[in-house]
Amino acid sequence: MERLEKIYEGKAKILYATDDPDLIVQYFKDDATAFNAQKKGVIREKGVMNNAISSRLFKFLEDKGIRTHFVEKLSGREMLAKKVGIIPIEVVIRNIAAGSLSKRMGVEEGTPLKSTIVEFYYKSDPLGDPMINRYHMRAFNLAKDEEMDKVVDAAIKVNKYLREFFDERGIMLVDFKLEFGRYKGGILLADEITPDGCRLWDKKTHEKLDKDRFRRDLGRIEEAYEEVLRKVMA
Ligand code: TMP
Repeated sequence: MERLEKIYEGKAKILYATDDPDLIVQYFKDDATAFNAQKKGVIREKGVMNNAISSRLFKFLEDKGIRTHFVEKLSGREMLAKKVGIIPIEVVIRNIAAGSLSKRMGVEEGTPLKSTIVEFYYKSDPLGDPMINRYHMRAFNLAKDEEMDKVVDAAIKVNKYLREFFDERGIMLVDFKLEFGRYKGGILLADEITPDGCRLWDKKTHEKLDKDRFRRDLGRIEEAYEEVLRKVMA
């Protein structure tokens, strides 16, 4: 497998073509952004930690029967993945109120939810990822109903499996964001699952172990990612 030209550079990752047209290399950067890239910084060794965390979680989910784009971890910062056509929708799953949900609904962060919430955001940097629902997806042809049924079904299963996984390791899965892609007529879980796109709280102390430490200037960012890495690999 040979890494070829860059095909896309995002805020936290670079995608490269390979000599196999069905496969890409995801390269994890240390760059961190928040609030639609109005805030920019670097989290030391984040790329290495996020690649390891994401690879472990995708492997775990594959073993549970979730279809993902993950093929293998190639090196510290590189993951081999299937080349999907990303559906331009961020799927957010919430178990406990936090972040924008707490603001929107006027509930204190940490309030448990009576049932899991699934939200959708249109992936658009110029628009700042506005919240949408399934009517918008139909009206703007973002995804087919049958595709979104599969996406939601997978997202709910991923939540069940990841909640258990983190719970066993002393971490609360508060909320997280997933992205899905089209691949050879099917739908695969894609992108990454890392502390950049999840809220992870220590079960006992409720200490934040995710990118909120960067967003909110809480300090000890690298230490939090290291702790998640250690526990995910345990
Ligand atoms: P929110 O409370 O800000 O809407 O975030 C919900 C979850 O989604 C949280 O775990 C962080 C993640 N997220 C992203 O991965 N990318 C984003 O652009 C945003 C706004 C949130």
